[in-house]
Amino acid sequence: MNRLTNRIDTNADGWDGPGGPQDLFFAKDEAFHYPRIARTDDIYLFEENGNRLIDISSGPVASNLGHNNARVVKAIQDQVAKLPFVTNRTGRTNENIELAAKLAALAGEGYERSFYVSGGSEAVETAIQFARQWAWANGEKERTKLFSLMPSYHGGTVTALALSGDEAVEPIYKEMAVMPERIPAPLSYRAPAGLSHEENEALILKLFEDRVIELGSEKCLAIFLEPVGGLASGCNVLSQAFVSGVRQICDRHGMMMIFDEVMSGAGRTGAFLTAHFHPDAKPDLVVLAKGIGSGYIPLGIMLAPASKVDRLRELTGFNYGHTSNTNPLACAVGIATVEELTSRKLVENAAETGAYMKERLWGLADRYPVIGDVRGLGFLLAPEIVCDRENKTTFSAEAKAPDTIRQLGFEHGLSIYARRTNNGKFGDWIMTSPPLTTTRTQVDEMIDCLDQTLKAFVDRMTLEGHRIA
Ligand SMILES: Cc1ncc(COP(=O)(O)O)c(C=O)c1O
Repeated sequence: MNRLTNRIDTNADGWDGPGGPQDLFFAKDEAFHYPRIARTDDIYLFEENGNRLIDISSGPVASNLGHNNARVVKAIQDQVAKLPFVTNRTGRTNENIELAAKLAALAGEGYERSFYVSGGSEAVETAIQFARQWAWANGEKERTKLFSLMPSYHGGTVTALALSGDEAVEPIYKEMAVMPERIPAPLSYRAPAGLSHEENEALILKLFEDRVIELGSEKCLAIFLEPVGGLASGCNVLSQAFVSGVRQICDRHGMMMIFDEVMSGAGRTGAFLTAHFHPDAKPDLVVLAKGIGSGYIPLGIMLAPASKVDRLRELTGFNYGHTSNTNPLACAVGIATVEELTSRKLVENAAETGAYMKERLWGLADRYPVIGDVRGLGFLLAPEIVCDRENKTTFSAEAKAPDTIRQLGFEHGLSIYARRTNNGKFGDWIMTSPPLTTTRTQVDEMIDCLDQTLKAFVDRMTLEGHRIA
């Protein structure tokens, strides 16, 4: 039996024989146990025993179209029957060409070319390599330094993990990975004492430029930003002023500004790219994954300007690749996803229904002081969980607040994505980022379940002696 609930553990614990689910690799944590999902439909996951859970987080913020989308399922079936695999080193495919045209139309000027890989981490690595190759080919051979924000997340491969701002991970990899320069993320909820958010942003911009000058701008390659953060910052939204400031610094020092839109892209924030909210401070490269394959297939994409790709082609070319580049099955899913987004106006729905959901989450905050903040854009939203709202204090590690809410969510019909990051140094939050297909009625259904989950959470914390102010 689980410490927190009456659920019988049939998964991770007591797995004596060979094999077993992959979560056996995770730390053994008595507070959290995974349900066994047997089938899915729309925004719902069904356990083997028929229990229904609402997928309030789109899995790890990936299932943008919800589950079992008819157009995507048909596209996969047709593609497998027709042309499941050809690599771009042996031939061109219509699927690659059609998806590239559709993406260029949606992404707009400055993002005419696209490079296809198998997920977000690979797409981030590709953007690092592209920036480096561009510098090298243009005779700027010293440009190697990368910058990222603390906290941030950019992926699970060694370089992408090192690029991510997570103090819990840093000591493990810092001696073996290429470590970036870090600047603090301008966290809208947590400006340092005595500073307004705007003053904090200005200070961070100064820190960034000072460090570039100190290192020598000829050595500085690029900065990676999540324009709206994910699990690492609880959907912290970068302001226009901050992004413009970074753009100007990059321009002054010949650096690239790269948007990691693995989570925030493909319509989730209410525009096809979150970069579209920054028309005067456009990133040089944009990285997509998750929602562009909508969870149906591994697919990551780097969007780049034709001007740079075509010029690089004349200089050295960008000759790196993977077996699965431009996989036709993945491209077919990308095409179907984009067609669903546009024909059903799902990007618009993310903006409108996402704003409604944010309002409803603030409504819950009125009744539950454990919600300190609600952040995000469109359907990329996160309530921050605190034990003392006035002082913005995070629950102690023993409370396991995100895991406890997740576990209690299962009891009240919700599958919630949440996990403590950075040892809770920057706060705790849960991802409330449903599929872009979600209707107002479904939002109401989610809020009802979350209401019950939060009530159970407050009861549990009180019972266990954790102070809530
Ligand atoms: C912003 C961001 N970048 C990169 C990644 C890595 O993507 P993947 O897990 O597909 O490798 C993620 C995954 O959560 C992410 O949220």
